[in-house]
Amino acid sequence: MYDFDKVYTKREPGNCKWDVEKGCIALSVADMDFASPPEVTKALLDRVATGLYGYEMMTERDYQAIIDWRFKRHGEVIKREHLMATPGVLNTMRAALYALTKEGDKVIVMPPLHTPSITSASMRGRVCVEVLMNDDGNGYYTLNYEGIEQAFKDGAKVLMFCSPSNPSGRVWTKEELEKLAQIVIKYNGYVIADEIHADIVYKGHKFISLRLIEGMEDRAICVFSPSKSFNFGGFHIGSVVVKDDNLRKRIKDILYETGNVCGRPTAMSICAQTAAYTQGGAWLDELLEYLQANIDFVCEELKGTPLKAYKPESTILMWIDCSALNLTTEKYNELMKKAGIMPDPGHYYWMDNHKIDGYTGLQDHFRINIGAPRATLKEALDRLKKALL
Ligand SMILES: Cc1ncc(COP(=O)(O)O)c(C=O)c1O
Repeated sequence: MYDFDKVYTKREPGNCKWDVEKGCIALSVADMDFASPPEVTKALLDRVATGLYGYEMMTERDYQAIIDWRFKRHGEVIKREHLMATPGVLNTMRAALYALTKEGDKVIVMPPLHTPSITSASMRGRVCVEVLMNDDGNGYYTLNYEGIEQAFKDGAKVLMFCSPSNPSGRVWTKEELEKLAQIVIKYNGYVIADEIHADIVYKGHKFISLRLIEGMEDRAICVFSPSKSFNFGGFHIGSVVVKDDNLRKRIKDILYETGNVCGRPTAMSICAQTAAYTQGGAWLDELLEYLQANIDFVCEELKGTPLKAYKPESTILMWIDCSALNLTTEKYNELMKKAGIMPDPGHYYWMDNHKIDGYTGLQDHFRINIGAPRATLKEALDRLKKALL
């Protein structure tokens, strides 16, 4: 029903992802090169046509759309009083972090991890404790429970969690979440869970919000958004579920203090979100099939090259293992320049203050964004394979 093959050659000036040299193919920022669902565009056009753009807040219908979506897609029951609309995910995660910790407190982060999430933890004098995830060598990442337990034992208060995980693509299973929960509960800790990729989960996997795990409702602050699922990151809108009234209020106050549009999402973002949540299901289902085929395509194309591609369980991202190439940062940059493509280098997903000379460690991976028409992806992979020769 929907056209995901259409290649958009004319882009809005100022688009973050496509801020690349002329001719270069952007595979970085987690936007998709597809138009948002037509149902969303129609709702926005109708809204714009009124000419009335006053300050706006979420109505109960807008809140109900979120509650219904999470129930229908994920079987999650959210009580209205625990739900709060926010102007995005990362700013809400930061607000939650500031609400739960003070300067000098230890915060656990688990690289490889989406960079700004790590940066947020390192801000305002919180001390980051890195607990690297385990990599089985076949692209399958698991949680390092011993490391997490040790960090809590050493006084960490909060764990920053990405669920599903960017860039590893893991969808954490119930068993994994339960094991994590046991540790968090034992040490009286909190988890701030970034669930922005929850709707982009492939067949055979199921997203479960951490707050649904026994004992975690009081300890998990879950933040999510339709912005990845429906491709309107530029609007900045999110939701947070917090059971404790005082903590929720504190997060709201901090969003307000930090100048995030009075802690509220903007008018157009509310319009887009409600349209997506109430009418976007069919589009998303089709998108997931298209993305799954893109993933299969990448794996097939990279067979026989020194690069190892693994199928992610979630996200529009693939974490490509390039360790066979023994790249330094310089060599990595040379390769991508020669290919004329721009993925994200692996070191972006470690600490941003973890600048080991030459970026060892995660330099043996890079992340590509597969949220693009197959023709764009094919061209990018052809170029990469040619550059590898
Ligand atoms: C894991 C993760 N969290 C958050 C964000 C950004 O969310 P927001 O724009 O709502 O702050 C992204 C965007 O790529 C992401 O991948």
